[in-house]
Amino acid sequence: MLFKSTSAAALLALCSLSSAASLHHKRTTESGIFLYVYGTDSSGEGPNGGPVFYANGLAYAGTAAAPSWAAVKTNVTFTLDSDSTTTAWTISPNNSTVSFNSTESMYIVPTTGSFTQVGFSSNSTLPTGAVTTGFTFFGTSVAYAASDSDYEMMFWATATNTTGIYALYWNAAASNDDIVNGSFPVTLKTTPPVVLTV
Ligand SMILES: *[C@@H]1O[C@H](CO)[C@@H](O)[C@H](O)[C@H]1NC(C)=O
Ligand SMILES: *[C@@H]1O[C@H](CO)[C@@H](O)[C@H](O)[C@H]1NC(C)=O
Ligand SMILES: *[C@@H]1O[C@H](CO)[C@@H](O)[C@H](O)[C@H]1NC(C)=O
Ligand SMILES: *[C@@H]1O[C@H](CO)[C@@H](O)[C@H](O)[C@H]1NC(C)=O
Ligand SMILES: *[C@@H]1O[C@H](CO)[C@@H](O)[C@H](O)[C@H]1NC(C)=O
Ligand SMILES: *[C@@H]1O[C@H](CO)[C@@H](O)[C@H](O)[C@H]1NC(C)=O
Ligand SMILES: *[C@@H]1O[C@H](CO)[C@@H](O)[C@H](O)[C@H]1NC(C)=O
Repeated sequence: MLFKSTSAAALLALCSLSSAASLHHKRTTESGIFLYVYGTDSSGEGPNGGPVFYANGLAYAGTAAAPSWAAVKTNVTFTLDSDSTTTAWTISPNNSTVSFNSTESMYIVPTTGSFTQVGFSSNSTLPTGAVTTGFTFFGTSVAYAASDSDYEMMFWATATNTTGIYALYWNAAASNDDIVNGSFPVTLKTTPPVVLTV
């Protein structure tokens, strides 16, 4: 039987709010939101709807167990305002054994010519060119609003040395030479993978 949780249905409703026209509506902050990553490479391999997780300050996704090489690793939930592109998306560990030392926000580096791994940081330690605001939804997918009329969905994934775990990138490449070989486009959604129960 096909099974989806009720919280998934609630999150789907949340996603429908996004459009530039809604920017000035009443603000609604949502917390406890997981983002799941979809997309496959040329061989049909991919993160398979695995949740975005934190490992040593960078963003990864996949359904395999957490990679042993990361000192600090945890699945995360996001606190976000789907009606505002000026509010950072902060994360909380979905694991009682992990705590962050400061407020961590998701960042991308949208600088033209860069292909940089998505990460999490406090404002004081952001990499050059990184932004923590501008995130929103386009349909059910996470987008970056470079402006009110320019919604970009340029999340990409690259295999890591751990089978089934992918590093999440933002693709602002100026040419193919900027792109890590073997990487592929993915989408980030609040919709969890459909679980087949027997
Ligand atoms: C994320 O959760 C999945 C199960 O929901 C678990 O297998 C995986 O190890 C977790 N990842 C991290 C980094 O804790
Ligand atoms: C970090 O910067 C963003 C964007 O300027 C801002 O919205 C957010 O409140 C800041 N967070 C902290 C913890 O200072
Ligand atoms: C989040 O944590 C809860 C409680 O430990 C666990 O049941 C759930 O599988 C976790 N989900 C993810 C995606 O890590
Ligand atoms: C929490 O983290 C510990 C240590 O990495 C891990 O063994 C455990 O599976 C994690 N729990 C969840 C719900 O992800
Ligand atoms: C917080 O700081 C302590 C001491 O510097 C460090 O051991 C720990 O790994 C840090 N936690 C995170 C989540 O980065
Ligand atoms: C695997 O990749 C991680 C992240 O880039 C790195 O820290 C680790 O040293 C690598 N491990 C091996 C065995 O190459
Ligand atoms: C990807 O591979 C091509 C051809 O092998 C090479 O020219 C290019 O520099 C590589 N790109 C990167 C970022 O390594």
